[in-house]
Amino acid sequence: MQGLIEAAADILIESRSTVALTGAGISVESGIPDFRSAGGLWSRYNPAEYADIGAFRANPEKVWQMLTEMDAIVGQARPNPAHLALGELEDIGLLTCVITQNIDNLHQAGGSKNVIEYHGNSSTLSCLWCGKRFTAAEKRGEIPPRCVCGKILKPDVVFFGEAIPEEALHRSYDFASSAQALLIIGTSALVSPANTIPALAKRSGAKLVEVNKERTHLTDSLTDVFLQGNAGEIMPRIVETVRKKREGITSF
Ligand code: APR
Repeated sequence: MQGLIEAAADILIESRSTVALTGAGISVESGIPDFRSAGGLWSRYNPAEYADIGAFRANPEKVWQMLTEMDAIVGQARPNPAHLALGELEDIGLLTCVITQNIDNLHQAGGSKNVIEYHGNSSTLSCLWCGKRFTAAEKRGEIPPRCVCGKILKPDVVFFGEAIPEEALHRSYDFASSAQALLIIGTSALVSPANTIPALAKRSGAKLVEVNKERTHLTDSLTDVFLQGNAGEIMPRIVETVRKKREGITSF
């Protein structure tokens, strides 16, 4: 593994523009279950019934059963060493931005400033009927949360059947198509359009470093360096190696 850590660190040091693409796996060590691993959220809630915009419109009370469970878990979650490692990489100028599929705000809490949220963020809620918006804090404890018009509010996260925010789409494509390195952390890369980012970066000449507990369809097709294991253990080792190599360079 150390050889792979060194190879990943070299790629980050040599890259003049590095982007990270993250999924639920980076937040598992913060206590938030991912979706498709054994015991993941979709093994307990059918996404067609709980994460589809049509299902929400038809039966928002039912969807809020899952959302309430997720809110309690996300509310307790703190950034783990993988989030902090990405924040540090951005601080030392070796990470341009994080494109995340997560809605847990842990990248921002972990020090990342340039975060593109593909699937929105659970910290605000909107009324699909009258358009009013509230912060999650304003509605804390109200289950399900209701708008002043009486309708049940929806978190500002992207449900299946909804579009990715235009700005997130365009900014991520701009960054990915000019990246020299792409860090892919904790995603099964099964959901479009986020899963088109790796191929876009690769076509633009980027080197792909994948960190995942298990192999994905990217591993044997696009990935240049695959580090298998927990992101919370691997990412700090990569950043530590980057720091040592850079100190070594400046020490003579
Ligand atoms: N470290 C690294 N990788 C991990 C860890 C960990 N500690 N724990 C889990 N993983 C890996 C899993 O092996 C899996 O490959 O993270 C990946 C998580 O995949 P998914 O559960 O499919 O999550 P994600 O890729 O983010 O899903 C994308 O699907 O349901 C939608 O909107 C939802 O944003 C989500 C999207």
